[in-house]
Amino acid sequence: MSRSINLAVIPGDGIGQEVVAQGLKVLRAVLPQDVKLETKEYDLGAQRWHRTGETLPDAELEALKGHDAILLGAIGDPSVPSGVLERGLLLKLRFAFDHFINLRPSKLFPNTATPLAGRPDIDFVVVREGTEGPYTGNGGSLRTGTPAEVATEVSVNTAYGVERVVRDAFERANARPRKKLTLVHKNNVLVYAGHMWKNIFDRVAAEYPEVTTDYLHVDAATIFFVTQPERFDVIVTDNLFGDILTDLAAAVTGGIGLAASGNINPTGTFPSMFEPVHGSAPDIAGQGKADPTATVLSVALLLRHLGHETEAARIEDAVSADLAERDGGASRTTEQIGDALAVRVAD
Ligand code: NAI
Ligand code: MG
Repeated sequence: MSRSINLAVIPGDGIGQEVVAQGLKVLRAVLPQDVKLETKEYDLGAQRWHRTGETLPDAELEALKGHDAILLGAIGDPSVPSGVLERGLLLKLRFAFDHFINLRPSKLFPNTATPLAGRPDIDFVVVREGTEGPYTGNGGSLRTGTPAEVATEVSVNTAYGVERVVRDAFERANARPRKKLTLVHKNNVLVYAGHMWKNIFDRVAAEYPEVTTDYLHVDAATIFFVTQPERFDVIVTDNLFGDILTDLAAAVTGGIGLAASGNINPTGTFPSMFEPVHGSAPDIAGQGKADPTATVLSVALLLRHLGHETEAARIEDAVSADLAERDGGASRTTEQIGDALAVRVAD
C-alpha cells in the first residue's frame, strides 16, 4: 500500500467531465490524511481531436506511463467519426499499457431497480481478456466498397495471453468466499481458440483444488444471466464475449449509471486505468443529470488495485447505503450524489 498516489485524470467528453469531478471529490474525502494525492489532468477526447486532430500523441502516452493509475470519464462524441477515438485513444491505451485484465464487477445493490423478476442475489465479477481476441486490428478489406468486398477480422488468441488472464481469474475466485470460476466461450463452434482456452483453463484449475469450475457456451451464459444470475461468482472470458456479457450484466444490476470497470495490468509495469462502463451520454451532457456512482465505484476498484482495501470497502459501503436510501421518484443532481457519497465516506 502506497502512502502517495500520483493519479492521471482523463475526464474526456460529455458527462465524463461531470462524473470524474465527483469521483475525485469522493477520492479526496476517503483518503487518510497521510496519503498524499497528486493529480494531473490530460486534455484528451473529442474536443482535443477537433482542435488539433490528435487522439493520443506519443509525448502524452509517455507522460501517462509515469503515473500510479489513470481515472477516465468517457471518450466520444457523435461529431467524431466512429472508430477514431476508440482505436486511436481507448484501445491504444489498453494495448500500450498491456491492460490484459478488464475487470467488471456486477452486484445488485439494495433498492436498485432490476428488470429481473424476484430480485435475484447478483454478485459476480467478469474477468474479460483485454488485449487479444477480435480487437487487435488483425484484419483488412479487399475490393472495398464494391459488391465483391471481402472483410476479415481475425481473432487472435495466444497461449501466453490466455494463461495470464485465466491465472488472474483463478486468483480472484480463490480470494472470494464462494470460490467458483466459470469459463465462458463457444468451443463447440470456435474450436481452435475454444479448445485452447478450455485446455489452459483445465490445466490451471489443477493448481486451485479449492476453486469449483464450470464451463458455459456464451449463448447459454446470456440465458443464465437473466434466468439464474445467482449461479455466477467469477467469470473468465475472451475480449468480445466479455464486452457483450458485461453490458447485459450492467442492464440486470441496475443499469449503466452503476457499472464500474478497471483496465488492469496486474504486473504493475504500466499504470492501470479505471473508468465507468458508460460513455459520454451526449443526450444528458451538461445538465447535471448523470449518475456519478459508476465512476465512484471505479475509484473503489482503483484504490483496491493500489492496495487501499479499507478505503475501497468504505466507498462500496457508502454507495450501498446511499442507494438504499434513494427514492426512485426524487432525482438528485450529479453533484448532490457526489456530495452525499463524499460525506458518507468521510464519516
Ligand atoms: P452512453 O453510455 O454514453 O449512453 C447510453 C444511455 O445511457 C444514454 O441514454 C445516456 O443518457 C445513459 N447514461 C449513460 N451514462 C449515464 C449515467 N452515468 N447516468 C445516467 N444515465 C446515463 O452510450 P452511447 O450513447 O452509445 O455513446 C455515447 C458516446 O460515448 C459515443 O461517442 C460512444 O462512442 C462513447 N462511449 C465511450 C465509452 C468509453 O469512453 N469507454 C464507452 C461507451 C460509449
Ligand atoms: Mg462495451
